[in-house]
Amino acid sequence: MPKIGSIELPDFPLLLAPMEDVSDPPFRRLCKLHGADLMYSEFISSEGLIRDAIKSRQKLDIFDYERPVGIQIFGGDEEAMEMSARIVETVQPDLVDINFGCPVKKVVCKGAGAGVLKDVDLMVRLTKSVIKGTSLPVTVKTRLGWDESSINIDEVAERLQDVGVQALTVHARTRAQMYKGHSDWTHIERVKNNPRITIPIFGNGDIDSPQKALEYKNRFGLDGMMIGRAAIGYPWIFNEIKHYFATGELLAPPTIEDRVEAARNHLIWSMEWKGERVGIVEMRRHYTNYFKGIPHFKEYRNKLVTLEDHNALLLVMEEIIQEYAGKTV
Ligand SMILES: Cc1cc2nc3c(=O)[nH]c(=O)nc-3n(C[C@H](O)[C@H](O)[C@H](O)COP(=O)(O)O)c2cc1C
Repeated sequence: MPKIGSIELPDFPLLLAPMEDVSDPPFRRLCKLHGADLMYSEFISSEGLIRDAIKSRQKLDIFDYERPVGIQIFGGDEEAMEMSARIVETVQPDLVDINFGCPVKKVVCKGAGAGVLKDVDLMVRLTKSVIKGTSLPVTVKTRLGWDESSINIDEVAERLQDVGVQALTVHARTRAQMYKGHSDWTHIERVKNNPRITIPIFGNGDIDSPQKALEYKNRFGLDGMMIGRAAIGYPWIFNEIKHYFATGELLAPPTIEDRVEAARNHLIWSMEWKGERVGIVEMRRHYTNYFKGIPHFKEYRNKLVTLEDHNALLLVMEEIIQEYAGKTV
């Protein structure tokens, strides 16, 4: 069973990916409820944390029922990374994760995120700074390399392990691929099979069904897998995969009542955590995912993304149950 520092994880854990504007406490609560074994915050700018930026500080909010939970930071300046690791430690997450995978230009340009895949020495220095700033276990999430012709995850894994990183998650794409094209897990398999590597290696990229999860689990022999997009509006994915691993059978898909309950909880928890107005507005981007594939849903969807009163929203959700209950959706 994989261990990160003193954190004991179940056999082949399923991790919820850090996702900006998605993996906030309300969403994490749902994923935890539906089987996520280890979760991460959205990435947090080290510079923002030091400036005391409200948005960055808010992302430090974690709750005991989420544990084990990690906070992810990014940045291209060693001193800022060390200081932000100290700040993160004050809220006592179970681990600190470093983002060396973000492909977005504004992050990469500052030598942060996937930018450091072109400068492994800098990546190692930034990692050392974070480790210096905290006594918590430090983990890293990164990509295969900068582009197809410079895949360097083998070297990266060894060097990160050597300076004290305690687990590595690899998104099986290069920076150049962004989120497109084939995610090639054979590179992660090679890292795992490197006899020098002893830390847990988690795979990430495009897991979207129990069947694919089992196929990849058997094929690549990693220590666990991380799931991102497939969990958005579908937190059931974690328990569906676990059930399939355990029995070889598929769980029945969520009913309309299940979907409404998840969307309603997400809304209520968002209002509790962000305040009513922001909670309602930010929830709008999620409804399409909760009700994906439901026929003739446009009218309800329009109401969900325009209504401003939470009682009216809850009423629409009741109407959805009345309309679709008992029907195959
Ligand atoms: C909306 C969105 C936001 C993301 N934000 C982050 C982030 O803050 N930190 C990070 O390491 N990766 C981030 N990612 C990348 C995911 O963690 C993950 O590596 C990627 O989506 C591939 O996994 P998937 O195919 O299971 O979604 C983000 C992805 C998406 C779609």
